[in-house]
Amino acid sequence: MPVSVVVGAQWGDEAKGKIVDLLAQRARYVVRYAGGSNAGHTVCTNGTTYKFHLIPSGILHPHVIAVIADGVVMDLRAFSIEAAALREQGVSLDRLRIGLGVHLTMPYHRLLDELEEAQLEGRIGTTKRGIGPTYADKAWRIGIRVADLLERDRLAARVRRVLQRRNPTIERVYGAKPLDPDALIEEYWGYAEQIRPYVCDVPHLLLRALEQDEPILMEGAQGTLLDLDYGTYPYVTSSHPVAAGACLGTGIAPNRLTEIWGVAKAYTTRVGEGPFPTELTDDTGDRIRNRGREYGTTTGRARRVGWLDLVALRYAARINGFTALAVTLLDVLSGFPTLKVCVAYRHAGRETREFVADAPALARCEPVYVELPGWEQEIDRCRSLEELPANARAYLHCIEEYVGVPIKLISVGAQREQTIVV
Ligand code: GDP
Ligand code: IMO
Ligand code: MG
Repeated sequence: MPVSVVVGAQWGDEAKGKIVDLLAQRARYVVRYAGGSNAGHTVCTNGTTYKFHLIPSGILHPHVIAVIADGVVMDLRAFSIEAAALREQGVSLDRLRIGLGVHLTMPYHRLLDELEEAQLEGRIGTTKRGIGPTYADKAWRIGIRVADLLERDRLAARVRRVLQRRNPTIERVYGAKPLDPDALIEEYWGYAEQIRPYVCDVPHLLLRALEQDEPILMEGAQGTLLDLDYGTYPYVTSSHPVAAGACLGTGIAPNRLTEIWGVAKAYTTRVGEGPFPTELTDDTGDRIRNRGREYGTTTGRARRVGWLDLVALRYAARINGFTALAVTLLDVLSGFPTLKVCVAYRHAGRETREFVADAPALARCEPVYVELPGWEQEIDRCRSLEELPANARAYLHCIEEYVGVPIKLISVGAQREQTIVV
């Protein structure tokens, strides 16, 4: 039975939500393995649009058990809002499971993220969802986990300990108002009651699923180039979106993975600060942004857009070990006379096909493009490769050749059925 991982191959928002929803048709477990409510995954089906931040997109399928695994960080205020919105849309959360080892993003994490981002110097352009501070506390071993939440005394002790460290920073470094431990303990004890029915030992749940040969699909958040170690540090998130992060985040051993899907847009987008060699700041960029409705699912920010960067995509394929590619938003590229794809960087006086992850060095890289002929007609009604214009097929072929990974899914619209299975 497949144990598949869906990984963002670029800087996030590659339409992982749509691809997970499609692949979840043949999964029993859909497992979020990293990140927190910084993620925004969209699924459009039967005329309804669902937005997910923490809850796995696979939950829309009634046969799926949706798991928030220990590698995820969870903001319970955000979770409560998301759960209510999904219930309002008629989605049952009975099949949700939440790991005991999940770290909580607390109000002081969000506050610290906002205060830090308010400083101009060193700004990352985060989603201000408290992600960096939560993972920092996890690594500093003062974090609060779901397991701590379930016993009041344990919760109280953890909250008091962490606020002894975080409150002085809030007050003295940023001049902001410290948080009251008692109010926080009270509020979070309330959340404990809300999530108690879902809590379980996720590594054990998934080990049992493996023994029973159940198909498992792991849902990535963010993208490879936002990985804390392999992305464009410091303009990255604080977790591991890469495929290896799926093992760390779930407890599933690396040798159990059978399929690693890379999801890539037919062009590139990025939200927040940081180098972006193929960025377009002209009319072409505006046109792609408008056609692709490139505004953030989580923050509503306009996304930066640019041509497809094959150097970066090939790097992502090698770092993750992609066994298949899903190319998404291909429909957005209809109507351009020519399309550019970046096949090398000019860097320090020479050309290279190797991605440059060091942010200041990447900022100095100039893209080397090849131009490919575009196609005029809209393709959102195409359902097979043969129906695509020849130039669209040639564009896909160019990606496959360069990256060395077969394209097995092509998305030509946001709806579930606007998909070509190769
Ligand atoms: P994720 O974070 O990777 O799940 O991606 P997002 O949901 O943040 O962003 C992808 C956006 O593109 C969403 O609004 C989707 O509904 C939309 N979308 C997905 N696939 C396609 C496609 O093939 N064509 C177009 N035009 N839009 C798509
Ligand atoms: P999905 O799962 C796109 C970006 C932020 C910022 C950097 C750090 O929808 O693809 P953070 O809040 O994580 O500390 O911000 O990472 N970022 C994303 N960009 N899609 C996402 O998630 C992102 N999650 C974080 O814009 O540049
Ligand atoms: Mg998104």
